[in-house]
Formats: sequence, C-alpha cells, structure tokens
Amino acid sequence: MASRMMAIAVRNSTKTQLSLVSTRSASSGGQYAEQLAKIGNRDIVGYGWNGELVYHDRVDYPMPAIRFKENTPDVMALREKEKSDWKKLSIQEKKALYRASFCQTFAEMKYPSGEWKQHIGMALIAASLSIYVSLLMGLFGNNLISCFLYKVLLQVQNQLLDYGGSGMSVMEMSHRGATYLKIHEDVIKRCRDILKVPDNYKILLMPGGGTGQFSAVAMNLMGKTGCADYAVTGAWSAKAFKEAQKYGKANLVFPKAEKFTTIPNQSEWKLDPNASYVYYCDNETVDGVEFNFIPETNGVPIVCDMSSNFMSRPVDVSKFGVIYAGAQKNVGPAGITVVIVREDLIGHALPFTPSILDYAATAKDNSIANTPPTFCIYVMGQVFEWLQRKGGIEGMAKHSQEKSQLIYKAIEDSKGFYFCPVDAKCRSRMNVPFRITANVDYEKEFLEKAEKQGMMQLKGHRSVGGIRASLYNAVTLENTETLAKFMREFYESKN
Ligand SMILES: Cc1ncc(COP(=O)(O)O)c(C=O)c1O
Repeated sequence: MASRMMAIAVRNSTKTQLSLVSTRSASSGGQYAEQLAKIGNRDIVGYGWNGELVYHDRVDYPMPAIRFKENTPDVMALREKEKSDWKKLSIQEKKALYRASFCQTFAEMKYPSGEWKQHIGMALIAASLSIYVSLLMGLFGNNLISCFLYKVLLQVQNQLLDYGGSGMSVMEMSHRGATYLKIHEDVIKRCRDILKVPDNYKILLMPGGGTGQFSAVAMNLMGKTGCADYAVTGAWSAKAFKEAQKYGKANLVFPKAEKFTTIPNQSEWKLDPNASYVYYCDNETVDGVEFNFIPETNGVPIVCDMSSNFMSRPVDVSKFGVIYAGAQKNVGPAGITVVIVREDLIGHALPFTPSILDYAATAKDNSIANTPPTFCIYVMGQVFEWLQRKGGIEGMAKHSQEKSQLIYKAIEDSKGFYFCPVDAKCRSRMNVPFRITANVDYEKEFLEKAEKQGMMQLKGHRSVGGIRASLYNAVTLENTETLAKFMREFYESKN
C-alpha cells in the first residue's frame, strides 16, 4: 500500500512547528505523532491526514497562525504554473515545489494571541498540505525521492532549530559543550554496538573522506617496515595504491587489470610477509566488485576501505587492523569518516604526518582535537539510531541481499539484453553496473526515461559509462522493485 502524507503540528513552550510524515494508515500516523511529541518533549496540536483533521486533546494554549518562508519568486512562479496545469510541470519542478512545501511546513511560527479561528485555520492548512503532498507523492510514485532516509531527515528537520529542548540547533553548539559531547559519545557508542567493535579498537571520527584515508593509512602504518601490499580490484583501491607510493614501497599483490571485473583467487595473491599491512577495498563503488571473503594474511594487519558498503552486513572487526569508511554512502552526510583501528597500530605515524590525520593525536582527544563537523556527526548518529531500529546490521544485510537480487535477476531474465560485466562470484550488493549492448542509443534512452519516472542518478561512473544502480542502505525495497519493473518494461518494449 502506498504511503500517504500526514501533517502534524507540535509545539513546545515557545514555538509551534508543522511536520509532514509519511504514514501507511491513520493509526500508524497517530502513533508516529505521539512519538514525535515525546521525542521533542512537545505537545501535539493536531494532525491532518488525507483531508481529515484529528484534534489532539492537549489543545489548550494560544495558537499561532502560519507564516510561510519559502515564497521566493521561483517558487511563486512554479505555483502559478501548477495552478494552470500541474500535469505540465516537469519532474524537477514538481520536486522543487515539493521541497518548498516541505520547508513551509517547518517554517517557525511565533504568534502571541490564541484564537480558535487561527487554530482552525492552521488545522485546515495542515490538512490541505497533507492532501497536496500526498498528491505529489502519488505523482512520483515509489521513486527514489525518499532515498535518503526520509524519516531521518524528518527527525533532523524537526530538531533543526531546537535540539532536544536545548533552545538551539546542533550547528550552533560549542563542540566542547555538554550537549554536543553527549551526541558525540552516543554516536561512537552506537557504532561500537552496531558493529560489535571489540574493546581493543578505537573508533575515530576523522576529516578528509576516503581520499584522506588513502594517505592517512600509509602515513600511520607504513613506518613499521616501509612497505605495504595492495590488492587493486577497482578504481578506488587503484587510487589508494597510487597515494601509498608517496610514503613507502607499495606492492601490487596481483597485476593490475585493465578492466575491473573480478577478484583473483587468494591462491594467486603474492603477499610480502614483511609488509606493514595488506590493503583492499571491500566494495569497489565504480566497478561493482565486492569481496565475499576476508583475505588470509598470516598475521599481517589488514586495512580495508568499506566506504561504500559500511554497515550493510556484519563484519568480524577482530580480523582487521583498520577499517575505514566515508559516511556519505550508507551512514550520513559527506564530511566525516569513520576509522576503526586496533590500538596496537596507533602511535607509529611517520614523523611528517599532519596531526589532523594522525591516529594517535585523534584518539588522544577522542576525535575532538579540533572542531569536528558536529552537524554531520549528529546526523550520522540519527542514521545509526534508524539502522538499529531497522533490525541492525543483520537487517541491513538481508535488505541489501534482497534488493541486489531483484536487479541481478532483472538482468539475468533479460537474456543478454542487459549485461553485467562483473564476475558472478564478486558482484556487489551495493552498486550494480550494467550495460545495454544491443544498440548504443538504448542506454541513453533508458536513462532519460528512468529520470522522467523519477529514478535519478542511474548513469554509470564517468570513467566506465553504462548504467549503475546504487542500492545503499537508504534505498527501499519498493524503490528497487520500481527499478526492476522499469527494466523489464524497457526490455519488453525493445523486443
Ligand atoms: C570505496 C570508496 N573509497 C574511497 C572513496 C573516496 O571517498 P571521498 O570522496 O570521501 O574522498 C570513495 C568515493 O566514492 C569510494 O566509493
């Protein structure tokens, strides 16, 4: 059943906010409203669902009227266009309108007097917004619009102006104040719990993204013996290998392939027992190549880039020296990198290592040696919380398996119309690259039609071309089913 939108008005002592939530039924919406009020320690003013308005019995205070913030000339022009014929709006325009409406509902409202007329006015607007957004959601269908954890965004939006009754946004807080420190600790603890990180590992939150770690790993670990082994299975490990050569002797454990479509069996790997570490990338985002085993390195510490499949399946952390992941694919906004590092590997950085990339300096100050990207870290914490509610790491693993199977099956069922170049044994659950070989123009047509139906960013990485479906944790099963159905229809239309 498609979800519908409900508008909820909640208040604390000084402000009233309207929130929109996607609900499956009136009762689940009602429960969600209750929960929202509890989380924000607020009262529910009322909530409208598909045109109805259900008043909550705690409506007993001065009621604000509504002031919309997002009436920029662009938005106004779109509204006019929408009035004359909404069918003529492009997907992009519908999205812009959708976003503007969304902002409006969160516009802060401060009005002194409480009149029932205003109250009813707000209620009606809440209800009509709910109809409006349900209409828009209907238009978009089950597309990828809700890709980035709709509920997490909603929660973040709800707390944007006033985090947990603190009277300020997380963005405004001192990174050394008690409220932020609690968020920081909580994020690290949740990460430890989700991945069952053993006590002899530190969890660091670092700047610089995955690329920063290409250097950080080498600068922190290479010093032990001056050399390291690299398994290059795709574009990202190739970059890491290149970067490591600046800091010592980096060996390729098997020859670099021209095209990355497989992972050589471990029997073909040539490991140097003297290496300071063995490096590999668990999921090659561009090429769609994913490891389904942890290499045996005979005691040499393993360093693993999990940027694009982090927290998508259980991992035995004790088998690794370092695991790192840029947050932006699976666990949060760009700007923060999670580094899980075994304690005995900390404190051996090359002398020129900048302290911002030094594991020891970062660990010593619990990742607050300088100002951390507090807002990114806070959002990541919200994603962790969501992930824990969604069945934890096992839930994510099941989910990613189901989603990727849908797409691989659509490829398989097309009898060669779609073609995935990656070896079946190492096909990624996160990034499914495929081609349409029958006619060069078909891929372009596929992408254009998909985009018109709201399925965005399916274009393969510019270095490899083709089509790529990225199925990160936030992508729902419904989103994936829509894509698989679209693939089938497109194939049938050409046969
Ligand atoms: C597997 C992997 N490693 C490293 C990177 C580089 O990360 P960043 O852009 O954060 O430097 C990416 C980026 O997409 C990636 O997918």
